[in-house]
Amino acid sequence: MKTLFFSAKPYDERSFVDANRRFGHELRFVESRLNTTTADLVRDEPAVCVFVNDLLDQAMLTRLHAAGVKLIALRCAGYDNVDVAAARQLGLTLVRVPAYSPHAVAEHTLCLILALNRKIHRAYCRVRDGNFSLDGLLGFDLAGRTAGVIGTGNIGAIVARILKGFGMQVLAHDPVPDAECQRAGVRYVDKAELFAAADVISLHCPATRDTYHMIDAAALAQMKDNVMLINTSRGVVLDTNAIIRALKDRKIGYLGLDVYEEESELFFEDLSSEIIQDDVFERLLTFPNVLVTAHQGFFTADALANIAETTLQAMTDFEQGGEPANRLGAV
Ligand code: NAI
Repeated sequence: MKTLFFSAKPYDERSFVDANRRFGHELRFVESRLNTTTADLVRDEPAVCVFVNDLLDQAMLTRLHAAGVKLIALRCAGYDNVDVAAARQLGLTLVRVPAYSPHAVAEHTLCLILALNRKIHRAYCRVRDGNFSLDGLLGFDLAGRTAGVIGTGNIGAIVARILKGFGMQVLAHDPVPDAECQRAGVRYVDKAELFAAADVISLHCPATRDTYHMIDAAALAQMKDNVMLINTSRGVVLDTNAIIRALKDRKIGYLGLDVYEEESELFFEDLSSEIIQDDVFERLLTFPNVLVTAHQGFFTADALANIAETTLQAMTDFEQGGEPANRLGAV
């Protein structure tokens, strides 16, 4: 099936071209995001493949439909950038990749916890600079401490079980408890109890109206002093301004972020020669106890291969007239 890929980075192209040897679709890749200027790049492709920051509002969907597009494949799990109802009305088929590697994000979460605790980001620079002093690098044993995991779906459940393996007491909060976590000894509690008891808090819930700014000044006030806070879920779950105040007050002792409220203006691009205009983000980077990665939790070879495989399979199913798996908004 002829497919035009928007927002295609070299690594996307490599993983899709590699997986496509088994499918034989006709793929074309452009680096540009899908927006009102780039929509005209669609020539005779009945399918487009898009990513998290591509715009798919009603006007764009209407335009793609008029250009002959029939299938829109999201090579990601989230779809808050898509007007699903408008797509359904236009008769466009939407597919996504709901879970490509929960292990990838869970393991990245552990990277942030371990690196922050033992100050690996600082130690790396120090040693390269010939500074072998240990002052300021003091960590703590995770074993015996308490972790709080908010959201124990695909990713959070793995994080909780890994943290159990480190010998931590693990508390969790989720409206739908995970039976395997419970069997592993994870104890489900309300948010207040989790906030009060946890030395390390890791967020793995989706961005919803309920979770918007879940970690605000009031939530932070309930936490232990010097708490470690990790967010690999979605930026809007944290109120970033409240977080900065808590870092200044030393309420937060360690902050690890893989996502940021305003990340669409920054992440996935090389802006190293630009002047970053986001002062809140820049302030975050000034703290020695803050470690930020640019939404790379998912970024493993295994996850990319799964994304490509699932997406290409959906194209084949669609082309052959079957119901593609992971279809969005089906009536
Ligand atoms: P999932 O849907 O499997 O699990 C989410 C869990 O959160 C569910 O168990 C749900 O019951 C729970 N939940 C919903 N509302 C809640 C609330 N108010 N309080 C506590 N728990 C609540 O999702 P998955 O795949 O585990 O993803 C988790 C997060 O990770 C999502 O925000 C997702 O967008 C993000 N993510 C981040 C990636 C990265 O590269 N950093 C990659 C993939 C996902």
